[in-house]
Amino acid sequence: MADLQLTAVKKRFGSTQTIHGVDLQVQPGEFVVFVGPSGCGKSTLLRMIAGLESVSEGQVHIGGRDVTGLAPSQRQVAMVFQSYALYPHMTAEQNLSFGMRMRGVPKQEILQKVARASEVLQLQPYLKRKPGALSGGQCQRVAIGRALVQDPDVFLFDEPLSNLDAELRVKMRTEIADLHRRLGATMIYVTHDQTEAMTLADRIVVLRDGRIEQVGAPMALYANPVNQFVAGFIGSPKMNFLSATLNRRTEDRVVLLLGDTEVEAPIRGGLSSTEDVITLGLRPEHLALDDQGPLNAEVRGVEQLGSVSFVYCTLAGQDVCVQTQALSLPRIGDIVGLKFSSEDVYLFDGNGITVSPLKSGKVKEVA
Ligand SMILES: Nc1ncnc2c1ncn2[C@@H]1O[C@H](COP(=O)(O)OP(=O)(O)OP(=O)(O)O)[C@@H](O)[C@H]1O
Ligand SMILES: [Mg+2]
Repeated sequence: MADLQLTAVKKRFGSTQTIHGVDLQVQPGEFVVFVGPSGCGKSTLLRMIAGLESVSEGQVHIGGRDVTGLAPSQRQVAMVFQSYALYPHMTAEQNLSFGMRMRGVPKQEILQKVARASEVLQLQPYLKRKPGALSGGQCQRVAIGRALVQDPDVFLFDEPLSNLDAELRVKMRTEIADLHRRLGATMIYVTHDQTEAMTLADRIVVLRDGRIEQVGAPMALYANPVNQFVAGFIGSPKMNFLSATLNRRTEDRVVLLLGDTEVEAPIRGGLSSTEDVITLGLRPEHLALDDQGPLNAEVRGVEQLGSVSFVYCTLAGQDVCVQTQALSLPRIGDIVGLKFSSEDVYLFDGNGITVSPLKSGKVKEVA
């Protein structure tokens, strides 16, 4: 278990800069998840921590040691890739032991470590099989086992579950959470999957275009995104954004016009007086169907998922998604009433910065 520190880390590929100065402190034993759109630099950052990619500027410290210029093998990190990267001609057992055999680790120690990894990951029945005779989930467990036998200070995972089917993903996700609890190891995990990010992370790092947008506990990011980008990225289905006209404002409240309906919401300082269009954010789970309104929307589509349904509507010419548990659902073309609590409204200024007050009391902040 070790801490990890990135200090003003930058990456250039030729003349193109991909990482623009990332500062991040990861505590020993912490589970940190990187999320962000495709191409934002998640893998590049992970590979720089692993030493598979050079650092153009800045430093990487692991366990207090400056590893910026060190080879991957000298960093005490182990990486698990999306592609598993197993040797096809070797059995699971040989895949697990290969790195140690190459480093000349004594045979007894190799046997012990392979036995322990197989036990932790329940790989005993498959040790004599080659990857071709293993399922995707079993291959991924061997890949994780190969990281485990290195006793790394830091585990790095790059979308390790994205090749697995939905059911197996859920199983492996709980296994990784369990592994983290048992090992107490520092882990950095890249994913596109909302549920993985929200459930596994102690803290989520939201990246955009090679920069950190926000770092925080999953529910803290969900409740208090600093800007529209983070608001749209955390939460599934994503937050609805509606552009509204500023009608009037007092010290701490605004009245907006959404189509011809007045909507009132709390605001904090920061809105420039010249701004007359601001973006209103409402999560699908904070909107409800209600005949009394106050808003009216036309239904464009309905998705029933079993426990919940999503009703897609047009509201004042803009798309919104409403989450509902109602059993009797509207039909396409119906006009439905929508309501929400003004406390659940997010407001974003012209630069996409959140200008609604912090939603305290809704989440337990993790220190
Ligand atoms: N070896 C390379 N040479 C040039 N550009 C690269 C190289 N590797 C990555 N890049 C660029 O750096 C940017 C970040 O890539 P990276 O693979 O880190 O993204 P990512 O966030 O992991 O995306 P994804 O979610 O699609 O895996 C991309 O624009 C990519 O094209
Ligand atoms: Mg990637």
